Amino acid sequence: MSSDWELNLDKEQFLAQHWQKAPLLIRGAIKNFKPPISSDELAGLAYEEEVEARIVEHQEDNWQLFHGPFSATDYQRKHPWTLLVQAVDQYIPEVAQLRKLVDFIPQWRVDDVMASYASDGGSVGPHFDNYDVFLLQGEGHRLWKTGQFCDSSSPLVDHDSLRLLSQFNTEAEYLLEPGDILYVPPGIAHWGTAQGECTTFSIGFRAPRITEMVSRFTDALIEQLDPDLFYSDARIEVATRPGEIRPRDLDRVSAQIQAALDQSEGNHWFGELATEPRYEQFPDEDELSEARSQLSDGANGIELNSAAKLAWQHEAGRVVVFANGDSRSFSESIMPLQIALSDAWKLNKAELAAACADPESSGWLDYLLESGCVFIL
Ligand code: SIN
Ligand code: CO
Repeated sequence: MSSDWELNLDKEQFLAQHWQKAPLLIRGAIKNFKPPISSDELAGLAYEEEVEARIVEHQEDNWQLFHGPFSATDYQRKHPWTLLVQAVDQYIPEVAQLRKLVDFIPQWRVDDVMASYASDGGSVGPHFDNYDVFLLQGEGHRLWKTGQFCDSSSPLVDHDSLRLLSQFNTEAEYLLEPGDILYVPPGIAHWGTAQGECTTFSIGFRAPRITEMVSRFTDALIEQLDPDLFYSDARIEVATRPGEIRPRDLDRVSAQIQAALDQSEGNHWFGELATEPRYEQFPDEDELSEARSQLSDGANGIELNSAAKLAWQHEAGRVVVFANGDSRSFSESIMPLQIALSDAWKLNKAELAAACADPESSGWLDYLLESGCVFIL
């Protein structure tokens, strides 16, 4: 497994000048890069029922979208086409290793690694995404164009299922070779076309919608607020126009809402939201008891599941662990283990033995097993 890949990038400079702002071509981003999955393997993965896969085929301006699972005949097409397979990192640990390249950005910001195969001329068309993406060239070559900044008011082609831009103002063109990366921030129009057959890995980020954050925050707040508190207006001013809701009344409303917001305690809803799994994969009772007995028999280590969404935060002598959309609080004694696991994606035999000998760390291990974040080696 090529976990020793390194990103040839000045991270500080990238974060200051490009992240969320401007595209960047990183030529030779990874030395000695060998794609962790071939186009044949990718095609095979898209046969599977549970794998989210799409094909986009186009003849000039006529774009068609097909949903998987696919079979061999789906790969015989008249016109240029692209196969897109979502969350390949969750099925292929070698592909998951690509996420390590962007470990200088908090892990919980990463969504998945999508992989695509395109025939000569294949493209998914001019579009924009709402998320940051690192487009890593696997096999072959792809010509990328980047364009204008877009938002929900940008004109789209009239199409039932594809969100294609009807206008594309090319600002730059890049011909990507194996191991090159093009970083594209949210909202920037981009359009890739395969030159010969090629594969691309898209390391995609996630960002919760503000509406979703407000909804989670208020759900948590409502749980904490006393339902028997009501709007109040002691020392109200005399109403001279009795039907009117006066600015002073609305100021009172705002002040009372603000006072309620200020009572909010805890922010675990954010970590739970940020670590929500793409596909639920909790172990069943049998798998869990098998894992527990392997652990008590002295296992060789544990490893993070490729699909695990795991994060943590430090607060007042405690460490709150967020695991696949759930959270639990532990004493801060588990912090070195949590850091080691998030860093290396595994714990070795000695680290595991030490953890099993300590009740708090054992509780933490059990929680990680229960939430489907780790497996026993
Ligand atoms: C592709 O791999 O062809 C599409 C990736 C993207 O535009 O986000
Ligand atoms: Co895109």
